[in-house]
Amino acid sequence: MPRSSIRFILDGEVVRLDDVDPTRTVLQFLREDLGHAGTKEGCAEGDCGACTVALAELDGDGITLRTVNSCIQFLPTLDGKELITVESLARRGQDLHPVQRAMVEHHGSQCGFCTPGFVMSLFALYKSNDKPARQDIDDALAGNLCRCTGYRPIIAAAEAMYDGGADAADWLRQPCGSRQSVADRVEKLRDIASSEQLETGHAGRCFIAPQSLDAFADAYAAHPDATLLAGGTDVGLWVTKQHREIDTIIYTGRVAELLETRTTATHIEIGGAVTLTSAIPLLVEHYPGLGEMFRRFASPPIRNAGTLGGNVANGSPIGDSMPALMVLGATLVLRQGAVERELALDDFYHDYQVNDLGDGEFVAGIRIPLPAAGDIVSSQKWSKRFDQDISAVCTAYKLRLDGGRVQSFRMACGGLAATIKRAAQCEAVIEGAAWDAQTITAACAALAEDFSPISDMRASADIRLVAVQNLLRRFFLETRGELGETVYTYGR
Ligand code: FAD
Ligand code: FES
Ligand code: FES
Repeated sequence: MPRSSIRFILDGEVVRLDDVDPTRTVLQFLREDLGHAGTKEGCAEGDCGACTVALAELDGDGITLRTVNSCIQFLPTLDGKELITVESLARRGQDLHPVQRAMVEHHGSQCGFCTPGFVMSLFALYKSNDKPARQDIDDALAGNLCRCTGYRPIIAAAEAMYDGGADAADWLRQPCGSRQSVADRVEKLRDIASSEQLETGHAGRCFIAPQSLDAFADAYAAHPDATLLAGGTDVGLWVTKQHREIDTIIYTGRVAELLETRTTATHIEIGGAVTLTSAIPLLVEHYPGLGEMFRRFASPPIRNAGTLGGNVANGSPIGDSMPALMVLGATLVLRQGAVERELALDDFYHDYQVNDLGDGEFVAGIRIPLPAAGDIVSSQKWSKRFDQDISAVCTAYKLRLDGGRVQSFRMACGGLAATIKRAAQCEAVIEGAAWDAQTITAACAALAEDFSPISDMRASADIRLVAVQNLLRRFFLETRGELGETVYTYGR
């Protein structure tokens, strides 16, 4: 029997909600329904971090704690989790959490609007890393914008937040104001865990959260017009920015099989609902040349919610994971009812926002071949800002050399066409040729045949073309050690 109430923990208590509007956001719930106005709304699109909250989930005998942007998280996705807000750390009259105290002592706040979001990002860092390097701090704060303090005092607070020792490690507010241990929280999360499918809704709109792959496939076959929801980092904005009404949502985030990853003798297999935060380390472990691009993929809260499957299925022409997945020869496991098929990512996109999925068909998994000896793999993201910015151009390469000649070469690009696309003519020039400056010059000319980019707010058509040509030159120089950068060659 499906159940219709969602249950989650907030400040040590179980919150049970019936008839939940499927697209009501966690931020609206906190501010409008509970009057917890500590969590702020800045942009309502996942960009500024003012709305950052943390979610704790059961993970074996412990919990994982991750930040998300509450402005684009739909309320029913909280089911079975613990929600931690800035007010969970300390309320007026209580001792401050060490993160908050460090922010006060180091003058990390002026107008204060961004401060709760920074505190929550630092809180997640505090719980996950007891000796962060400067880059860890920068990366943890990549999704938080401050307009007035400047970042130096906030970084100083991040460095000082450990000064009080480990005393506060489990510090979270309980109703009585006492501290709450991880063991208490695990027990509470176990109490609200349920194996029943959730079906909640309001005013004729519904949110379905199947728990198994078969139930998910059946639900989607029965409602082929439904919107699939994974991390909501694209879908959330359809609601908050485009004001779209969504009648039926089917949520991937509770489907056990879609949340699995595994590495076989030949492949990395990533389930269709695995978050970017979980998928990226697996990919980068085998392909370190993708590390820089993934480091710059959105921000921690977006990567904590957003999935690799959602990035691929959404199919934005400026999506960052797909050029890399394409050059690696990734395939998609697609499922429709009881029928499964495998399709090369190369064949998935037909046109702008048109892909090969049939009615009721979804991405069940992504298979990525493991590297072969001698492969050189890299991906480059070119955007106006280093952190938390959408690419103007994104490229990826897979090269294998035989002496001074190219045995095989693949290149794929985003930001240059209506879909992510291989650079077929450029590849043809390079494959079998000498890996030298003359070949690269000819290949750059071929890129102009491969792509006719458009101008938009991120870059003009001309600049995009020059950028992709220069990125290819850069990759060439990197492989020759002429930029002094690491080149990752496998099995040598
Ligand atoms: P959702 O929003 O839940 O879904 C996206 C689409 O995929 C929907 O059409 C949904 O129906 C469909 N879908 C989801 N799962 C499946 C499935 N298993 N089978 C079939 N269809 C499915 N993207 C980048 O590439 N690079 C960036 O740097 C980047 N930065 C961002 C920064 C911000 C602030 C925001 C808000 C977004 C950013 N994005 C970026 C876009 C977004 O985060 C990614 O596309 C993300 O991977 C989407 O995954 P999701 O799980 O959130 O998808
Ligand atoms: Fe800006 Fe949510 S309000 S990220
Ligand atoms: Fe004002 Fe950061 S303190 S925006």
